[in-house]
Amino acid sequence: MNSADAGTLVNLMPSEQALSDALSQAQHLPKLALSSRSLADLELLGTGAYSPLRGFMGSRDYRRVLEEMHLSSGLPWSLPITLPVNAKETAKLKEGQHIALADAQGDLYGILQLEESYSYDKELEARLVYRTTDHAHPGVAALYQQGEVLLAGPVTLLRRPMASYFGRYNLEPAQVRQLIASQGWRTVVGFQTRNPIHRAHEYIQKCALEIVDGMLLHPLVGETKGDDIPAEVRIRCYEVLLEHYYPRNRVMLAVLPAAMRYAGPREAIFHALVRKNYGCTHFIVGRDHAGVGNYYGSYDAQHIFREFKPGELGITPLFFENSFFCKTCGGMATEKSCPHTGDQRLSLSGTQVRAMLKAGSSLPPEFTRPEVAKVLMESIA
Ligand code: ADX
Repeated sequence: MNSADAGTLVNLMPSEQALSDALSQAQHLPKLALSSRSLADLELLGTGAYSPLRGFMGSRDYRRVLEEMHLSSGLPWSLPITLPVNAKETAKLKEGQHIALADAQGDLYGILQLEESYSYDKELEARLVYRTTDHAHPGVAALYQQGEVLLAGPVTLLRRPMASYFGRYNLEPAQVRQLIASQGWRTVVGFQTRNPIHRAHEYIQKCALEIVDGMLLHPLVGETKGDDIPAEVRIRCYEVLLEHYYPRNRVMLAVLPAAMRYAGPREAIFHALVRKNYGCTHFIVGRDHAGVGNYYGSYDAQHIFREFKPGELGITPLFFENSFFCKTCGGMATEKSCPHTGDQRLSLSGTQVRAMLKAGSSLPPEFTRPEVAKVLMESIA
């Protein structure tokens, strides 16, 4: 098994003295307003969640990631981390220059040392990363809407855009690693989620908990597509579930401030690498991980792990089949453990759950714990 100390963390946040120097320097730099997606990437670069990346990708890394799922250094990486801007905005920028990175209101969050600006082929990126060029795919739609030039270079993070959200659950990779060490966990499984927690999630988490020391329940709280349940509501769902159904000392809840790409298989690799940076040794990949609609096969996000050499990712994936409640078994199961027919099995898609909530119908306890259902019902009342 891998050790919980999963390699060196990049830290792009200056010390206190350097920070005040950098802040005053930044006041005089040309300013670029970032989208919430790019701000999230800036934060994740800065805290080391994207280690070994030290900035927005240049064209060499970008091409190699697209074509081979590796950086030019040879290390594995599956999604482009780029800074798209409109051509008009780049006209006044010069390579070698420092640029202040701000939000739409002009508040400063970081500095980019511009090494390169380059154009790219959006359709090629869509095909290679998302496996589709369909505009209806939310990740592809976001790609088509973004700027046509990519800025690249190392960044400094001056302030974390998400710092004041999600209270005690807002932990940087170094803090999570420290907490893991203080718990004495040698093996930790990471769980990515963007949905309200339901019994299938609980089942696969608890199967994993049987073989590791602890779990990092790590919901993604960055930008998601419009009809996904808001992060604040999901956090309350995780809280009530942990309170009633999990041993307190074996689960750590923290948030991941990343945007959801819905890139299915490629995003599963990315999610695993990021959780390694937070100190996880294992990572759960279930049915249609990070998928949307019918763009990916149910287990494509598991098969893609075979494209990497054993040990190369530095984190061990734990694969789970589609899980459901079986009326005859009287509990949660998968095809691997349940011999009964489909009519005995209860499972609901995210879309069905949202429709039921909208219609005011109660969610069956075999699908969602009543405490969680209550939070969800209240959130739409
Ligand atoms: S995701 O976009 O973050 O993957 P979601 O929050 O629904 O969406 O899933 C979190 C994790 O649970 C993913 O690894 C996913 O594959 C897994 N998962 C979700 N539902 C099931 C299910 N019914 N059976 C098995 N795995 C599931």
